Amino acid sequence: MLRITVMVSGGGTNLQAIIDGIENDKIQDAKIVQVISSTSKAFALERAKKHNIKGIVIGKENYPDNKEKTAAILEALNNEMTDLVVLAGYMSILDPSLIEAYLGRIINIHPSLIPAFCGHGFYGKHVHEAVLAAGAAKTGATVHFVDEGVDTGAIILQQEVDVLKDDTADTLAARVLLTEHQILMEAINKVKATILADQGGK
Ligand code: GRF
Repeated sequence: MLRITVMVSGGGTNLQAIIDGIENDKIQDAKIVQVISSTSKAFALERAKKHNIKGIVIGKENYPDNKEKTAAILEALNNEMTDLVVLAGYMSILDPSLIEAYLGRIINIHPSLIPAFCGHGFYGKHVHEAVLAAGAAKTGATVHFVDEGVDTGAIILQQEVDVLKDDTADTLAARVLLTEHQILMEAINKVKATILADQGGK
């Protein structure tokens, strides 16, 4: 059984995709053991509550000191014997010590075809605004492993999305989001076997 901690900051539609994927067997042999949000304001916490999934807030509002925040996240991950950390709309940067502790077991969903339109400042709607400003004919979504950089870890899965001539940042974001949900589930299935094997097939 793959024990997944999902880290969120916003609406939680990617979290919902994982919840639904597990409930309708698109993701098998996996369980979301907790949701960690960087803010108490994230609707993602409501989604977790509705599915009886433990939701905890670890962010600036309750851990102003970065070291204490990192220690609290690490403790929460270890407490639930997390096998895989999924960053799903998580808007805070993880401390290198945390990435080191879970290297190869943290994945992130990004709303572009990395290495295009990623890195510092490229998040949420800013990504799609940049795609439109560049006149790109295609964009997409990427799931990648998290390393010390921003959106720089090894790519696990990508899926292209056409940019339509009458697209706005909102219409493009909505279409890319649907692709994010799809490839996030596929990526979890893809990494599950390797991670469980490394963990001794717990
Ligand atoms: C999405 O655009 C996702 O690509 C980015 O965060 C945004 C919100 O995701 N990582 P969610 O609805 O909170 O899952």
